[in-house]
Amino acid sequence: MKYHIVTYGCQMNVHESEKIAGILHEKGYTEEAPIEEADIVVFNTCCIRENAENHAFGNIGALKQLKRQKKELIIAVGGCMAQEEGKAEIIREKFPFVDILFGTHNLPELGELIDRKRVSKKRVFSLREERGETEDNITPVRTGYPGAWVNIMYGCNNFCSYCIVPYVRGRERSRRAEDVLYEVRSLVEAGYKEITLLGQNVNSYRSEDGYTFPKLLSEAAKMGEKFRLRFMTSHPKDFSEELVRVIAENPNVCKQIHLPVQSGSNRILSLMNRRYTREKYLDEIAMLRAAVPHCAVTTDVIVGFPTETEEEFEETLSLVDEAGFSSAFMFAYSPRTGTRAAAMEGQIPEEVKKERLSRLIERVNARTREMSSRYVGGSAEILCEGYDEKRGLYLGRDEYGRMGYFQGEKELIGKFVTIHVTAANGISLFGEIKREER
Ligand code: SAH
Ligand code: SF4
Ligand code: F3S
Repeated sequence: MKYHIVTYGCQMNVHESEKIAGILHEKGYTEEAPIEEADIVVFNTCCIRENAENHAFGNIGALKQLKRQKKELIIAVGGCMAQEEGKAEIIREKFPFVDILFGTHNLPELGELIDRKRVSKKRVFSLREERGETEDNITPVRTGYPGAWVNIMYGCNNFCSYCIVPYVRGRERSRRAEDVLYEVRSLVEAGYKEITLLGQNVNSYRSEDGYTFPKLLSEAAKMGEKFRLRFMTSHPKDFSEELVRVIAENPNVCKQIHLPVQSGSNRILSLMNRRYTREKYLDEIAMLRAAVPHCAVTTDVIVGFPTETEEEFEETLSLVDEAGFSSAFMFAYSPRTGTRAAAMEGQIPEEVKKERLSRLIERVNARTREMSSRYVGGSAEILCEGYDEKRGLYLGRDEYGRMGYFQGEKELIGKFVTIHVTAANGISLFGEIKREER
């Protein structure tokens, strides 16, 4: 039988879709196929911003027709939006052709839910409030070779005032270090070359078996010779000197750190409940750069948080210059029902948010271009990830997160190649192969 998974949201979700695929394989859905040919379609949803939800609802709605033609098709909806308060009712009423709904805490039960649906022919909705155990017993069907994701923790305790994640993902739970390290070692032995450790705030990782994140990272870095380690996301409130030391001392740890700043205004940071100041953030970057001079720093920024003034927005612009980000994910604030910020007075009009967002994007992109142009004439070590059909070139990233494009051959996928950079455009570098390694 055939399956199709539609994934929205962050890397955590992308990896969870690999686990969903693992469960589907066990249930006899062994072939991935286009949506029209699938026997089961699973939507793995996101609700971080309103447009993520609209997108999902639009695409789920579009399946009504297919289900009419193909009665035995199973449609399942899971992920963060499924867990969000009130959404199950909407799906129950407005999307009667959805057969299975499962919350973020119910992922390990998906197999049973499918069985129940097959037997009873009734709709199966399963939403739990909390889950103690983690998902360690699911074997994912990995789709990212030569990259692989490894969860180190689930959930979030931070309650940034704009954010829905703590409500839909529950409290923080760290996996045992022993299990994480075993998984990393197995992946390296299986030939994966880039492993990304995942958690909403990796810096608050604390395992039952006595590991903190820096200790886990430095142990993981010893699991093989030529492979890369990445991690996301780091919260600036817990960013430590010890972590910086581990980044500096381990050649396997990529010299790129994603450190979401969200705003350059202390008043807004405080309203966001981020628990650091602009000054502390900039000090952290200075500490990082002192120890790891070429380290690339990327970030997330929200514009138009309730009550943000023009001057406060300009503080975000100036912070972008001071911090020297190599790139950023930038968002207009989107109110999420149930969060503190959604109930605040002083919501900013959409046009103002849009206008601020485009000014910010312009500022960040100018810097990204400028930094990329410095590569021209030099070289970059790229881990070849695949082939870009549109460009007709092979592609991959360097350790700093820049995309590199070059002419090559299939055998290079999964290998490190050094390119001579001849041109740059945005975050992308173009070049010719100088050398290839294992
Ligand atoms: N745990 C990570 C990020 C998770 S969400 C962290 O703390 O950094 C990814 C990004 O989405 C956030 O960093 C933030 O910039 C953005 N985001 C979250 N909620 C948002 C909202 N309500 N509106 C706009 N952007 C939001
Ligand atoms: Fe959301 Fe903040 Fe948790 Fe990140 S740290 S997931 S932004 S609440
Ligand atoms: Fe990720 Fe979206 Fe959930 S960003 S944690 S999939 S709300």
